[in-house]
Amino acid sequence: MWRARLDPPWALAGWRDAARTALRAGVPPEAIDWDARGDGLLGSTPLAEAPPLQDAPSVPGGFIALAEAVLAHRDPHRHALLYRLLWRLTRGEPGLLAHDTDPDMRRARQLEKAVRRDVHKMHAFVRFREVPGEANAFVAWYEPDHFIVDLAAPFFMRRFAGMRWAILTPDRRAVWDGQAMTLGEGGDRDDVPTGDAGEALWRRYYASIFNPARLNTKAMRAEMPARFWKHLPEARELPQLVRGASARVDAMVARAPVPPRRIIPAPVVPDPSAGGDLDALRAAVRGCRACPLWRPATQAVAGVGPRDSRIVVVGEQPGDEEDLRGEPFTGPAGRLLDRAFADAGLDRASAYLTNAVKHFKFELRGKRRLHVRANAAEQSACRGWLERELALVRPERIVCLGATAATAVMGRGFALMRERGRWHRAADGTPVLATVHPAWVLRQPVGQSEDAYASLVADLARVAAALAGDGPTAASVATDVAG
Ligand code: URA
Repeated sequence: MWRARLDPPWALAGWRDAARTALRAGVPPEAIDWDARGDGLLGSTPLAEAPPLQDAPSVPGGFIALAEAVLAHRDPHRHALLYRLLWRLTRGEPGLLAHDTDPDMRRARQLEKAVRRDVHKMHAFVRFREVPGEANAFVAWYEPDHFIVDLAAPFFMRRFAGMRWAILTPDRRAVWDGQAMTLGEGGDRDDVPTGDAGEALWRRYYASIFNPARLNTKAMRAEMPARFWKHLPEARELPQLVRGASARVDAMVARAPVPPRRIIPAPVVPDPSAGGDLDALRAAVRGCRACPLWRPATQAVAGVGPRDSRIVVVGEQPGDEEDLRGEPFTGPAGRLLDRAFADAGLDRASAYLTNAVKHFKFELRGKRRLHVRANAAEQSACRGWLERELALVRPERIVCLGATAATAVMGRGFALMRERGRWHRAADGTPVLATVHPAWVLRQPVGQSEDAYASLVADLARVAAALAGDGPTAASVATDVAG
């Protein structure tokens, strides 16, 4: 009889060494005492002394991952179970891992599942508390069902890389000092402070997101078993929240229905000849149903800026953020435009910013809404709004960002990359300069984006120069076009 002593009993490396030694010595499963404390069974020999008789056979893929999880279970028979599986896998049953009805495999999968669930719970229910007197240092006490700290710790390392933390459990601790993780002996509950200021905030937050209409105490207990409650600051709020839930649901039902987040317009089509000021125009734009783009969008996004702006800047269409906020150029492209404006010496606040198309066109990719360019019919359905904005603001200069804007102002056939950075004339004679869209600059690969940005700034600097009275006058623009 042979005996194995594994310390710690959940470590894969120790069990793998022992199992490999046993396999090479041809020791059958029933001849090993895996639970050997001290000297183990009378008359048994340490496995490390077993003589190698053969090469270690190779192990099918998937077994190591299974073994790592099973070893973390508290079941005292897990080492023997794993060795039995290994023995069979390497002695004529290479397909054993796929046999879900085999009793050994079924048991192994049960243990694996329990461990993975325990890891998941630990990820969800560890609550850090600030270490008094230490900056950016946190500690948590947690009592997992199994020996899972080694398996669960990498998640916390990734999630909380920027702080120093320790998680103490009865059997094991994980400590992250901001650079490296150490796994060591278990700790004591009394080493962990019982509350901090962040905890009160967290409890208030939890109470505010608790939805009484979705209360399902059975599911809640399954997801968050009562034994975890003692670690969770929010658990103290639960009895009260649960007690008050049905009254809150009654009150919600009695309240008037909340209007949907989407702003559903009454049907309007653009009428550039209509009277009214910019406010009336914005209200009308919000009701636009001139093409199908209004349907999936949150709302139409009209232009913003002073009525007496000297320039109108025309973009393509609102993006994801603009659609949600209802204001043009507030997302990533808008932020880049702000920077380019500043670098070119232009003042964004005194410009009127708008788009050729007033609704966000997108396609869904998972949860993300990805920009899609409006087609010719959608662009032309929207043109009336831009014409009305230009007629009301009557800018000295128009700046077009990208091809859609340039087409809307200059008409089809305008070759942006050839004509960019030079002054042209709109149909009513207003000088127009077209340049690249900031979103195009953002899409450039590293190494080319700096040049793309510089060229956008250079074009905008021509606008700034023109406004400052430097560069071609409105009357001389034709010369610039020719030149
Ligand atoms: N891109 C645009 O063309 N317009 C916006 O408003 C935002 C991004």
